[in-house]
Amino acid sequence: MKRMLSGIKPTGRVTLGNYIGAIKPFVSYQDEYEMFIFIANLHSMTIYQKPADLRKNTKDLIALYIAAGLDPEKVTLFLQSDVLEHAQLGWYLGCMVSMGELSRMTQYKDKKAKNEVIGAGIFNYPSLMNADILMYDPDFVPVGEDQKQHVELCRDIAERFNSRYSETFKIPEPLVTKVGGRIMDLQNPTKKMSKSDELGKGTIYILDDINISKKKIKSAVTDSDGHIHYDPENKPGISNLLEIYSILANRPIEDLEKQYDGKGYGEFKNDLAEVLGEELEKIQNRYHEIMSGSYLDDILEEGAKKARIIARKKLAKVERKIGITIKK
Ligand code: TYM
Repeated sequence: MKRMLSGIKPTGRVTLGNYIGAIKPFVSYQDEYEMFIFIANLHSMTIYQKPADLRKNTKDLIALYIAAGLDPEKVTLFLQSDVLEHAQLGWYLGCMVSMGELSRMTQYKDKKAKNEVIGAGIFNYPSLMNADILMYDPDFVPVGEDQKQHVELCRDIAERFNSRYSETFKIPEPLVTKVGGRIMDLQNPTKKMSKSDELGKGTIYILDDINISKKKIKSAVTDSDGHIHYDPENKPGISNLLEIYSILANRPIEDLEKQYDGKGYGEFKNDLAEVLGEELEKIQNRYHEIMSGSYLDDILEEGAKKARIIARKKLAKVERKIGITIKK
């Protein structure tokens, strides 16, 4: 069975972008792959988090993974901070990446361009991510488009390590879904939908009031030509809505184009709002059931136990190869 690994940061509220670009694909892969899915809470520390918010967001995210359909019996679910080996391998790998490589990462460049004071963690973020991935030798890393560059850097570092110290890490492939890999902001469809949308109008949050989310779909920015057609370059708003519709309804975009040929944007948006509402209701009901139970801790403990077995072995192998341990 081929292996997959991915993670999400518990920062802010989970968005429809996270759901469509990552969580929903994870669920669809769980029967076919051996999966390791974690909460990237060490990565969340690169930006200050109020402790109470971090705790709540972490719990919410794990409950959401399960509410969305991830089955803890099939998937190893764990907290990154519970497997100490990630930070240690992250240090070794951080010593193998150049400042130039890290400076070229878009996520870092975007933060830097905003001229805010940024912590060193943001800069070295990819080294920890490389450790998260390489620790488990996954064949594939399912991520949204914005994380592809990080996985590509990870491949380079794995190759560098293997050629310097002999074959140690599998070279992972990023896996970005063709449709839904980059869900755009509903008010500004040339920009990625993100957790940090200031007014919150362009971002749908999975656990938000469903009526508010439906309204956001109905007031999404489109264009004036009135034709429902997929053309991301010239019709970014409608194309984004078509991608969302296609994923949520599990129907090809061409099918939707045919169904709405000659129909207005209003009708299309109303139907999409209904489809979204149904999906969110299912997830939210499950989420509330899960949050009222007390088995999340057990799931995380089980997951960490399984992850640690692999991580310890891998770290020991790395440490033998690089000569940091005196035992051969
Ligand atoms: P994070 O928490 O920013 O995002 C989690 C996942 O959601 C995807 N995503 C989107 N997909 C489509 N459209 C959008 N608008 C959208 N916004 C976010 C992201 O691409 C991602 O797949 N660095 C990672 C977490 C991480 C990780 C890893 C991932 C840490 N270590 C190892 C994979 C493997 C991150 O910040 O994701």
